[in-house]
Amino acid sequence: MFDEISTFSFPTRILFGCGAVKRLPACLQENGVRKALLVTDPGVHSTPVFKVVARVLKEAAQPHEVFAGVHANPIEEDVLESAELYRSLGCGGVIGLGGGSALDVAKAVVVMARYRGALAELETQAGAAARMAGPYDPIIAIPTTAGTGSEVGRSSVITSRKLGRKIIIFSPWLMPKCAILDPELTVGLPPSLTAATGMDAFTHCLESLTCPVFHPLCDAIAIHGLELVIRYLERATRNGQDIEARGNMQVAATMGAIAFQKDLGATHSLAHPLSTEFGLNHGLANALCLPAVMRFNQEAAASHYARLATLFGLPVHQITEKEAAARSVSEVESMIERLGITRGLRHHGVPQEGLAALSRKAFEDSCHRTNLRPCTQDDLLRLYEQSW
Ligand SMILES: [Fe+2]
Repeated sequence: MFDEISTFSFPTRILFGCGAVKRLPACLQENGVRKALLVTDPGVHSTPVFKVVARVLKEAAQPHEVFAGVHANPIEEDVLESAELYRSLGCGGVIGLGGGSALDVAKAVVVMARYRGALAELETQAGAAARMAGPYDPIIAIPTTAGTGSEVGRSSVITSRKLGRKIIIFSPWLMPKCAILDPELTVGLPPSLTAATGMDAFTHCLESLTCPVFHPLCDAIAIHGLELVIRYLERATRNGQDIEARGNMQVAATMGAIAFQKDLGATHSLAHPLSTEFGLNHGLANALCLPAVMRFNQEAAASHYARLATLFGLPVHQITEKEAAARSVSEVESMIERLGITRGLRHHGVPQEGLAALSRKAFEDSCHRTNLRPCTQDDLLRLYEQSW
């Protein structure tokens, strides 16, 4: 028992609260950043959120440049272009402003500003850790969605159009120095995106809780993250101005990503190709595949799912653990429907004849390797079919 040494670390400094964004200049200063590259997407660039951040930087006379070309599912070219800008303008740190896409590009920028090879050479594989060795210039993350949790994550997911799949680069050096969570920056997020990104947070918490890695600290964080999503996601989706719900969803999303330093599961392997092949929002893709994966895991994860049933407040004290687990899966399906998400991949532009090719890509994705119940490629195909 306990004959392996575990390492538990939660190193990112997190500033949370309404108006936290005003601390951005101080964060840059504390981390020795003289000139920063602000990386964002065209959507955020055109919103009042961008104006707020730009005003904060201007009032502090903080030198900075802007790259606002990040795609919804970020591509390698976004990274190469912004890294080139970063180098040529002599930046010494990056601010990621936006959803997971902008934050993931921001993380990759500081790496590629120094590494001149192809992004795929840095992918999790033998030798990549040495090539990824930091430290890198500081990354400050300001999320405007509540889902991905990229602000505390140690990975960056970028699509390679050339390879036709997502490249995942991973290193503790990719962790932002500071994450600024300001609930007021998320109030403009429309209901459909609030629901989808929130389901990403929910999936992070659930997949990390059930993945078979010893990390009791992350387990506790995942459980509280699930509780917060259950309590606040529907409220935030119904009323975007509900600051209590928005703030708690930001916390839940950050907790989900802290928890998944343990690892994820099959839902994420199914979701990744749905974004690269059919452009589905990542959180939506998770929401559409999660119930089938839960049924697949139901027996192996019965104790975790029974606990989830209690978090939902279901009356489970007079039924067996297995029955409670089954109830929790049905409750997740109901929650997804209450969030206004139309279930079924068929309704989101995914053709039935495309499922076999998707399952090949899903099998190549590493997340399912830490699914509680091992998956074959055939299993993944069946899970797509059940989610179709
Ligand atoms: Fe995710």
